[in-house]
Amino acid sequence: MTATLITNIGELTTNAGSPEDRSGTLHDAAVLLEDGRIAWVGPASDIPALPGGYLDVDAAGRAVIPGFVDSHSHIVFGGDRAAEFEARMGGQQYAAGGIRSTVAATRAASDDELRTRMNGLVAEMLAQGTTTLEIKSGYGLDVATEERLVRLAAEVTPEVTFLGAHVVPEEYAKRADAYVDLVVGDMLDACAPHAKWIDVFCETGAFTVAQSRRVLEAGIARGLQPRLHASQLGPGDGVRLAIELGAASVDHGTYLTDEDVAALSASDTVLTVLPGVEFSTRHPYPDARRLIDAGVTVAIACDTNPGSSFTSSMPFCIALAVREMGMTTAEAVWAATAGGAAALRRDDIGVIAPGKRADLVLLDAPTRVHLAYRPGVPLVKQVWKDGVAVR
Ligand code: NIG
Ligand code: FE
Repeated sequence: MTATLITNIGELTTNAGSPEDRSGTLHDAAVLLEDGRIAWVGPASDIPALPGGYLDVDAAGRAVIPGFVDSHSHIVFGGDRAAEFEARMGGQQYAAGGIRSTVAATRAASDDELRTRMNGLVAEMLAQGTTTLEIKSGYGLDVATEERLVRLAAEVTPEVTFLGAHVVPEEYAKRADAYVDLVVGDMLDACAPHAKWIDVFCETGAFTVAQSRRVLEAGIARGLQPRLHASQLGPGDGVRLAIELGAASVDHGTYLTDEDVAALSASDTVLTVLPGVEFSTRHPYPDARRLIDAGVTVAIACDTNPGSSFTSSMPFCIALAVREMGMTTAEAVWAATAGGAAALRRDDIGVIAPGKRADLVLLDAPTRVHLAYRPGVPLVKQVWKDGVAVR
C-alpha cells in the first residue's frame, strides 16, 4: 500500500460542494491518498485509524486545491514567435496567418527536438500545478507531420486532439476546400488512431462554419469527440455549430453575442476562456461574469502556444480571470479544475472526493485567494499526481 495523509489543511477546496457553493470548502481538514486515489476526506479531528507505513504531510495551515486541468494547449511545435509578440506590443495586430511560421519550424524539427520542447513544457506545467493536460496537433498541416504531432502528444497525455484544420497551409493557399478534403481523408486516417478529440479553428482567416462542420462530422464518424476554437477574433456562428454537434467545449469566446450566451446556457457545452490570449494579443477579455450569471459552465485553460499565448501558468490565468473577467477566486479555481474536467468530459479528476484520482496541489498560502492576490508569485509548494508527490 502506498498511502499519504495530508493533515492540518487550513483551507481545502474539494469542489464537492452544493450548487450554491461548488467549492465545497473545508477548514482544518485532512485528505488520505491511497493507491493513486483519494481514500478519505474530512475534518482533521475525524481522521480514521490507519495502519502503519503511510507518509504524513503536515500542511501547516496552508491551502490545498485539486490539481489544475488545463484543457487546451498546443505544445508540440518548433521555433518561437517572440519577435511577433514584440511587434504586437508595439501596435501590430494578431492574425491567424502567424501560425504558418510555426508550421515551417515544426516541419523542419526532428521528433527528438519536438519531444524535448514538449516534455520541458509538461514539466513546467506540472511544477505549476497542472496534473491533467490536453494537447492539440495543428502545426504540421501535412499528413506525415500531423501524424508525428498526435503520436508525440499521446506519449504524455490521453487527452490528444487532432487539429489538422488549424489554418490552411501555404501550399493550399486559395484552395481551402481541397485542404479540407485532405484533412477529412488521409490526414484523419493517419491521426484518428492516436487522438480522442477533433478540433477546428473556426474563424475568419482560418475555416468557415461549413468547412468546420465537415471536419468535425468526419471526426465524429471516426469515433473522435468534437471541440472547437470559435469567436476568438470576432463574432461568428462557431459557438452555435459546436453546440449543435454536442461539443464538450467551445474555446476562446472573446466575441460572444447574446444568442451565443443563451444557447450555451441551454446546452452541455462548456465555454473555455483563455485569458492568456487576451493578455498577449490585446483583444478585450470576455466577460465571464455574464456567462456564469447566465448559467454557462466556464472552464479556464492556458492555450499554451507560441503565437497567441505562451504562458503555461494556470495560476497566472486564474489571476487574469479574476482581475479582468469578473470571476471570484472560488469560481476561477473551480473553472481551472472541475471546469477543465467538464471540458474534457472527465469525472475522475477536478474534485477531491473518495474514489477520484489523487491529483492535488498544496499552495504556499493560507487561502486560494492568494492565487489572484499574489500574481506572478510561485505559490505551488507541492503537487501530487495519482497520489505520488511529483514536486
Ligand atoms: O488557440 N486560435 C488558434 N490557435 C491558437 C493560436 C495559434 C498560433 O497563433 O500559433 C489559439 O490561440
Ligand atoms: Fe488554441
